[in-house]
Amino acid sequence: MLELREVSKSFGGLRAVDRVSAVFQPGRITALIGPNGAGKTTLFHLIGGVLQPDEGDILYNGKRLNGLPPWKVARLGIGRLFQDVRVFRKLSALENALTAFPNQLGESPLWSILQRPKVVRQEVAATERARRLLAFVGLLEMADDPAESLSYGQQKLLAIARLLAAGSEVLLLDEPTAGVNPEMAKSILNILRQLAKEGKTNVVIEHDMGVVMEIADWVYFMDDGQIVAQGTPEEVLGDATVRAAYLGL
Ligand SMILES: Nc1ncnc2c1ncn2[C@@H]1O[C@H](COP(=O)(O)OP(=O)(O)OP(=O)(O)O)[C@@H](O)[C@H]1O
Ligand SMILES: [Mg+2]
Repeated sequence: MLELREVSKSFGGLRAVDRVSAVFQPGRITALIGPNGAGKTTLFHLIGGVLQPDEGDILYNGKRLNGLPPWKVARLGIGRLFQDVRVFRKLSALENALTAFPNQLGESPLWSILQRPKVVRQEVAATERARRLLAFVGLLEMADDPAESLSYGQQKLLAIARLLAAGSEVLLLDEPTAGVNPEMAKSILNILRQLAKEGKTNVVIEHDMGVVMEIADWVYFMDDGQIVAQGTPEEVLGDATVRAAYLGL
């Protein structure tokens, strides 16, 4: 379980994240919503170790994440899908998935010489796992295509496959369906649902309230750095204050 306790972060005089407490449960899709500048992305930066909180604690399975650099946070199983999808454009889809696996023997030159048969066996197994992940996100047919030849939505799917290859148990997704066509958006949402069923912790920043209604188990509504409402999508989106003040409905 991922938990934030009274987490704050200021930029100069601006409290971008202001005493935020929240719980993100495994097996659930939690949506983080709120107007531009509410502090949603900053909250992801804090969880991911890109920024450090001024105050408060970030706990993951009881372990304090405060002070850890991004790569250590990632190693602990917290993966992030960035708004500007980050894949290796020149590598094939399969290579993109393969390079995301942690701790491969073949990475060490000495090991690859001394333990050649073991390395080969491990590479075969890794390729098999990478292909299964590509199949899971629906990209198996593009396994050998360079990532840059994939559509934007397919690159997002590939980035998700990379997060899974890296062993992420928590997925922090910043607008996963933004900028993709409706059919692709559906596939991405289906994959998120399936991952939640498998017990992953999904946290989604989302501007499309239709999507929130459709997939979120729990919603946190942020404004001015604070969580001002939380509940089921029906509760939060139905809240008169939320509707009037922030959604313009
Ligand atoms: N590195 C930074 N330096 C100074 N101010 C920042 C920095 N990053 C974010 N801010 C400010 O903090 C506030 C929260 O920004 P943030 O990007 O977290 O909002 P957001 O909820 O993700 O908005 P959007 O929906 O537009 O993506 C904004 O006022 C923003 O201008
Ligand atoms: Mg943002």
